[in-house]
Amino acid sequence: MTPDAAIAPDEAMPAVTRYRATIMQTPTRHKLEVRTNAVIEVDASGTIAAISTDDHRPVDHDYSNAVLLPGLVDTHIHAPQWPQLGTGLDLPLETWLFEYTFPIESQLTDPLVAARVWPSMVSTLLAHGTTTAVYYATVDVETTTMLAATCAELGQRGFVGRVAMDHPIHTPIWYRDDDPSVAISRSAESIRQIQSLDSELVRPIVTPRFIPACTNETLAGLGQLAQETGVLVQTHCSESDWEHHHVIDRFSMTDTSALDGFGLLQAGTVLAHGDHLDGDDFSLIAARGAGVAHCPLSNSYFANAVFPARRALDAGVKVGLGTDIAGGAEPGLLRQAAHAVTVSQMLEDGVDASLPADTRGVADSRLSIVEAFYLATVGGAGLLNLNVGLMEVGRPFDAFVVDTNRTNSALQVWADVDDDARIFEKVVRLATPSDIRDVFVHGRRVSGSERA
Ligand code: GUN
Ligand code: FE
Repeated sequence: MTPDAAIAPDEAMPAVTRYRATIMQTPTRHKLEVRTNAVIEVDASGTIAAISTDDHRPVDHDYSNAVLLPGLVDTHIHAPQWPQLGTGLDLPLETWLFEYTFPIESQLTDPLVAARVWPSMVSTLLAHGTTTAVYYATVDVETTTMLAATCAELGQRGFVGRVAMDHPIHTPIWYRDDDPSVAISRSAESIRQIQSLDSELVRPIVTPRFIPACTNETLAGLGQLAQETGVLVQTHCSESDWEHHHVIDRFSMTDTSALDGFGLLQAGTVLAHGDHLDGDDFSLIAARGAGVAHCPLSNSYFANAVFPARRALDAGVKVGLGTDIAGGAEPGLLRQAAHAVTVSQMLEDGVDASLPADTRGVADSRLSIVEAFYLATVGGAGLLNLNVGLMEVGRPFDAFVVDTNRTNSALQVWADVDDDARIFEKVVRLATPSDIRDVFVHGRRVSGSERA
């Protein structure tokens, strides 16, 4: 045996980092799993190597009084709407796009503007615990690749889509692809550029904005592109009365069936909003293995209806949560989990008190806080076919640490009052970035007090 071979096993032994915290996560739709005083071991590749409970060995990072949660998966964000966040919620979707949104998005095709906006957005989202994000970028290839590079550099897992939109009526001449061949070739070029970044964190995603914004040729070409490249697809689907009926008028069928006809409804296709989907749509989406990005706050402004998340889940549809920045005016996905519960109760109860209580709402619509967090983690990861959303041996360590007793924070645990279920509920409803101490993606600390 040569001396080199003799030392090889030691060198090959991965360095392990140990963290102590109380783990809270939702392995299944109705189950909150709590592991008090757990020690989680992460190897040099960022993979979880071991988890033990009630373990009192010394650790590298002691989060004894904090809660460790799996990283959040935001399945729907419009990156070039970041500067618009918090504004412009007074118009219906079709006018909001032309009045506010396309103008701001077109500014983000300038690399100088993008170079300032993308890092601000990605680092802020990481500070909220969003370890995976599914982005619509701009129509421009260069600034789209810049967004993917920003995710890779700052350490966020991302799907980044160049937005294809070429319809001569439903897009403005100053923010569109000139024709279907441009729409398709730019989308193909964007896939190549993002893949050539060679980042294990970032992937391209085929992104026809929505059916109204695209010609038939572009929809068909992008369906083919997705099938040829094996890249996932995202688009908006049955979002509002206007959008839903536009598609029925144009194709005599719903968005779901039309997208399927264009080859765009595949395993992992992320359909944003979906408020107007019916049972037949749900059956087709479930059969294809596609799913819905549920964006409860945005839907309250733009979708004219509440997405029936519980019905969708019961029909076997994959469901994740999305902020829909800037249609949704809050950056954090924990808030969306809370909103998902709120709007589900409004759907169940109904909203018009002049109607009799027993006909006002839709029975059996409520989501629990556990289900909502499941959507924000395991649900989104499952939709994207990613091995995250849960801390388990063999999965990447994507997680965030929440303090539960910061001065001046509304998030306070009272030992004589709060059990585990209440602590979890408080974390989901009340934690803000000031309560989030550290954030990890694939084992790398990407945000927080001890940022590497
Ligand atoms: N449909 C097409 N584009 C958009 C968008 O930017 N936001 C939302 N919410 N819906 C859309
Ligand atoms: Fe959207």
